[in-house]
Amino acid sequence: MTLVLSARAGRAASASTPLLACLLPAGSGLPTHLRDLDKALGGALKRTFNNRDFRGGRDEILHLAGTAKGPRRVLLVGTGKPKDEIAALRRAATLAARQAHKLGAGRLTLLAGNDDERAIEQILIGAQLGAWEYTDLKTPPPQDERRDPLKEATVLVADGKRGKAAVDAARAIGAGYDVARRLAMMPGNVCTPELLSDIARDLGKRHGLKVTVLGRKEMEREAMGSFLAVAQGTSQDPRLVAIEYRKGPRGQAPIVLVGKGLCFDTGGVSIKPAERMEFMKFDMSGAAGVIGAMEAIARLGLPVNVIGVFGSTTNVVSGTAVTPGDVVKASSGKTIEIINTDAEGRLVLADVLHWVKQFKPAVVVDAATLTGACVIALGNTTTGALGNDDALVAEVVDAARRASEPAWQLPLFDEYKEQIRSTVADIKNTGGRAGGTITAAAFLQEFVDYPWVHLDIAGTAYTESDLTIIPIGPTGVPVGTFVEFVRGRAG
Ligand code: BES
Ligand code: MN
Ligand code: ZN
Repeated sequence: MTLVLSARAGRAASASTPLLACLLPAGSGLPTHLRDLDKALGGALKRTFNNRDFRGGRDEILHLAGTAKGPRRVLLVGTGKPKDEIAALRRAATLAARQAHKLGAGRLTLLAGNDDERAIEQILIGAQLGAWEYTDLKTPPPQDERRDPLKEATVLVADGKRGKAAVDAARAIGAGYDVARRLAMMPGNVCTPELLSDIARDLGKRHGLKVTVLGRKEMEREAMGSFLAVAQGTSQDPRLVAIEYRKGPRGQAPIVLVGKGLCFDTGGVSIKPAERMEFMKFDMSGAAGVIGAMEAIARLGLPVNVIGVFGSTTNVVSGTAVTPGDVVKASSGKTIEIINTDAEGRLVLADVLHWVKQFKPAVVVDAATLTGACVIALGNTTTGALGNDDALVAEVVDAARRASEPAWQLPLFDEYKEQIRSTVADIKNTGGRAGGTITAAAFLQEFVDYPWVHLDIAGTAYTESDLTIIPIGPTGVPVGTFVEFVRGRAG
């Protein structure tokens, strides 16, 4: 469900809305922009603050009954004492929208003490994230038990002429997040490599972009022995997809975004434990992020050349599956000893990263749910960033910060290459437990000859527990990071 978004001038007390969410920092007392509402509520807000029933702490919420003519309900949402005010407002807006969705309010009006274009944009992106839900596979409840889904979000601003560009941008980026999360949430029997390429083709058709799709036959022709080693276990046709958005200057070297698209990862013959294996349907979150980012970038109409690429297959156990010890040859010519069939993402990406050289990229940023080690190193809130150009890594990390999708650099020193030396082939696909995220990146680096950043999103692309603002399931990472990076380059 996409939200209708707007920004309009108005005062709190006269906002005729089922739910008014006031986003407030810690320890502020009654702010001046809520004085009219306090009066309409007979002093209830002031009493609430005096009682210290609401202190504005991060994620704190207090629900009050509203007025007959103005807001029917009032929600106070705390932003705490944020280092980054915009990020805190976005988070509070997500929480408010989640609450509005649960209440069945239908329409949400948001009020913050910040009318900057960026604040309006991020608040409306936050609202869309909070309203997101995946109901495709559930039988709808009977009519009388249904609640109104959240359909509309409005930001109240002092000057009604402001916010137009912010609303449009929020709509574009929200649409990108929506498609990425929807695809990621789909189970492996619904979201197949073929479905992902169909979605890419549809995106291309709607926006007039060139879409190239390679199947097993075409990959055989390209001698992609690494990618195909993973795909040989499944009867599903694998996919390598490129979506070309070229609205930048003619001849300008493109930004290439690459995603890992494993529609399911059982581990293959090196099979994973059964417990929580179902979460491996999210192993295509990088590809979903590429599709979501391309959707957003096309809607934003950014004056830049961007190519979104993903490699997609399924890593299963079968009679034809690749076996530990097998040696395969990548399209670059390098031979790879497959020590562990569960290190399949890097095998797919090896051929994809080599294939994108044909685009003569200015820079390549890939995103992949690549290693459990990254979850151990950085947890579930921070993406791992590695690359062959520190300034470029810093640029991507900063884009991630602006997108409220924190990332942090890990080193990629040459010394780590020793861990992926093989006794029979040029390299092997695992480097042991030590520094697992880094040795995975070192493996990818073998197939790269351009400025490159790798984002390990294993811990951040989805959540296995409710995160207050995000329910169990996909977070939308790395859509925002990709979009902010491209926006930053578009000037
Ligand atoms: N898709 C997994 C990584 C993963 C783990 C993502 C947990 C999200 C949560 C990847 O294909 C994988 O299995 N990696 C192995 C590599 C190992 C065999 C070197 C891992 O991390 O265990
Ligand atoms: Mn795996
Ligand atoms: Zn995987």
